[in-house]
Amino acid sequence: MLLSWDDYHGDEFNAAKAQAPAADSSTVTEAPPAEPPGIEQSAAPLEEPQQKETTAENAEDKVTGNSSNVERAQAAVETLDVAAGLEELEMGAARVRVDDKAMINCRADLNQLVPFKYDWAWQKYLDGCANHWMPQEINMTADVALWKSSDGLTEDERTIVKRNLGFFSTADSLVANNLVLAVYRHITNPECRQYLLRQAFEEAIHTHAYQYCIESLGMDEGEIFNMYREIPSVAKKAAWGLQHTEDLGNPNFQTGTTEADQALLRNLVAFYCVLEGIFFYCGFTQILSMGRRNKMTGTSEQFQYILRDESMHLNFGIDVINQIKLENPHLWTESFKQECIDMILQGTQLEIEYARDTMPRGVLGMNANTMEEYLKFIANRRLAQLGLPEQFSKVQNPFPWMSEIMDLRKEKNFFETRVIEYQTGGALSW
Ligand SMILES: [Fe+2]
Ligand SMILES: [Fe+2]
Repeated sequence: MLLSWDDYHGDEFNAAKAQAPAADSSTVTEAPPAEPPGIEQSAAPLEEPQQKETTAENAEDKVTGNSSNVERAQAAVETLDVAAGLEELEMGAARVRVDDKAMINCRADLNQLVPFKYDWAWQKYLDGCANHWMPQEINMTADVALWKSSDGLTEDERTIVKRNLGFFSTADSLVANNLVLAVYRHITNPECRQYLLRQAFEEAIHTHAYQYCIESLGMDEGEIFNMYREIPSVAKKAAWGLQHTEDLGNPNFQTGTTEADQALLRNLVAFYCVLEGIFFYCGFTQILSMGRRNKMTGTSEQFQYILRDESMHLNFGIDVINQIKLENPHLWTESFKQECIDMILQGTQLEIEYARDTMPRGVLGMNANTMEEYLKFIANRRLAQLGLPEQFSKVQNPFPWMSEIMDLRKEKNFFETRVIEYQTGGALSW
């Protein structure tokens, strides 16, 4: 909705003015005491004539009454050091050039978005904005009826819904916290930061979506939100992620050495490739499979929107990692590559355990074994995206419909191809 200046004639504005009379004094103080009417009107065009007189009278008092405050403010502005807070920048230096920009350890001014160096990052920011959605837009009525009916879902299906809401309701907070408290300050490029800010908001929307499902279904919130501390298969995944945020979360952590820069890369691999790139996939597949069978369709739709966002987060992360590798090849040592392979394999193992725990029997046309194959297929894909050798031979995708839902064209990242075909917000179809 557009704001109209007429709104400022309303009661709220006048009430606000009445509560904060001092706000007027600085405006009026700057004007000469004997103001010609025309000038005074332009300084305060929105006031009624009567109020204007009162304000002017009050202001006269305040000129003397608060003059020491005003003088202090003027003195502070006069002595303001324009270089303070920008000590890393050379004031008066040449304007930012594309070549000055770098993913990490960059000394160029980070407050200047353009000229762009990484067009793919800016494009992802635009695509993310074009896909904006909110959880309340999705109708949850059928889910509520099904969840409350005594025979609508099997016990195994109910376990799947609860476990996944349990895992995801806190997992997206872990990702958001890692972004804003650990990663953000070390990515020294404004167009990437612009995407990180968009992603951080999307993570908040995801946590909101899970909370919205939990509340709509009338679940025990304490039980669901505490699963990441109480249910081993959920807790292990959360703990695995958390151990990789510790180094960077330390306020004294700085990049700039090989060791520290590798720690940042390790964090990016852990969160983008494992947490968002593997840990989400068993749960997404289970819930979307439910939706395809016309069960919990509202919850499934929420997950489908989230999956669309997540595949972009994943691809952004992979592009960032590959760009850092490109600019800092000394970080990508044989032993570091091995470490990354190990991380992907550990994540895959944890997700396979999660699949077994959430699917003790066959359910929804899948079972723990087919999920295991799917996760190995996903792990191979993550390894290939990082330029690492695949670790599982002869694995196929047993759920090709998942790729259709994600639309593999969107799953491509910059280093594979530049095709990104996103549409605005709007409708999803099954
Ligand atoms: Fe998320
Ligand atoms: Fe994400």
